[in-house]
Amino acid sequence: MVLVEGEKIYVLGIETSCDDTSVAIVCNGAVLVNLTTSQWIHEKFGGVVPEYASRFHVEAIAELAGMALNAAQLNVEKIHAVAVTNGPGLMGSLLVGLSFAKGLCLSLGIPLIAINHLQAHAMSLFIEENASFPLLCLTVSGGHTQLLLMRDQFEMELLGQTLDDAAGEAFDKTGKLLGLPYPAGPWVDKYAALGTATFDFPLAQTPRYDYSFSGIKTSVLYFLRKQLALSPDFIERHRNDLCASIQKAIVKMLTAKLLQAAEAYGVNNIGVAGGVSANSGLRRELNELAEQRGWKLYIPKMAYCTDNAAMIASLGYKKFLRREYSGLETPALARFPVTETQV
Ligand code: KG4
Ligand code: ZN
Repeated sequence: MVLVEGEKIYVLGIETSCDDTSVAIVCNGAVLVNLTTSQWIHEKFGGVVPEYASRFHVEAIAELAGMALNAAQLNVEKIHAVAVTNGPGLMGSLLVGLSFAKGLCLSLGIPLIAINHLQAHAMSLFIEENASFPLLCLTVSGGHTQLLLMRDQFEMELLGQTLDDAAGEAFDKTGKLLGLPYPAGPWVDKYAALGTATFDFPLAQTPRYDYSFSGIKTSVLYFLRKQLALSPDFIERHRNDLCASIQKAIVKMLTAKLLQAAEAYGVNNIGVAGGVSANSGLRRELNELAEQRGWKLYIPKMAYCTDNAAMIASLGYKKFLRREYSGLETPALARFPVTETQV
């Protein structure tokens, strides 16, 4: 592609890896528009139903892209490249965004830029701020938990990740055991603020910087079974304290590894991305640690923490400048091999 000097570069970003359909446009890396629609249908099933997720993406994607172009007052021919999440995520959902992106690129004759969703979450730290390096990025969402050591925006090392459930899943699944609606994370947070962490749930012992959250779900399950047999209204009477105790355990596990890595690598710049970064217990703990340890903390605004296309388009712009284009044969990958996230 031949660029005229001083020409503004527009990249359209598409994110459909799970249950949020999102389209964004960046101009020279600055976000012009970032539109996201969430799918409420999954609430009544207590979790994301992959088939519904893909169907809703199909219904939403073209209209959302049109709305994004309108909001940015851009004709589609002005777009230089389309960046799209090609994994990890739900296969059906990924295919909707990827196929739509390929269609656009083919019809406009512009490059496709495939984006690793987890690398994009880390990129969300740089949308509004110029975070400094080296940087530890903790990505915590409903689907992922990972700790990255970033030496710059393209050189990152995966230090650890969850061996089973993600941190958001731990909130959602334990909250479900308490009868809270899906996604339970924000509810656990809300009730935790009204309670005291009086119950002790064991913290998983995992190697190095890996995480494990399936144990807390099981221990809450067995604990509740025992208590409910003795007193059927146990949950109602102790809901706030149960939430505070669960939240404390999850936050402790998250911050313990972060602290360990920060000390081992001598890093003072700490970033947190993903939907769980909204958790007030996690934020409080991180702020305290930051004060004690002299950390510079980076937490993007919520619209950039949860799944969004702004982070996809922002990373897409950086890859565009590096001419890192992807062929139209690029597959959707439900799982990325670990080496692929160690970009
Ligand atoms: O990043 P995100 O929007 O989507 C995924 O990629 O999964 O994260 C959603 C997750 C859900 O598990 C939700 O329960 C959790 O983030 N979450 C929270 C809070 N707000 C959202 N968990 C704990 N406390 C919160 N305030
Ligand atoms: Zn995500």
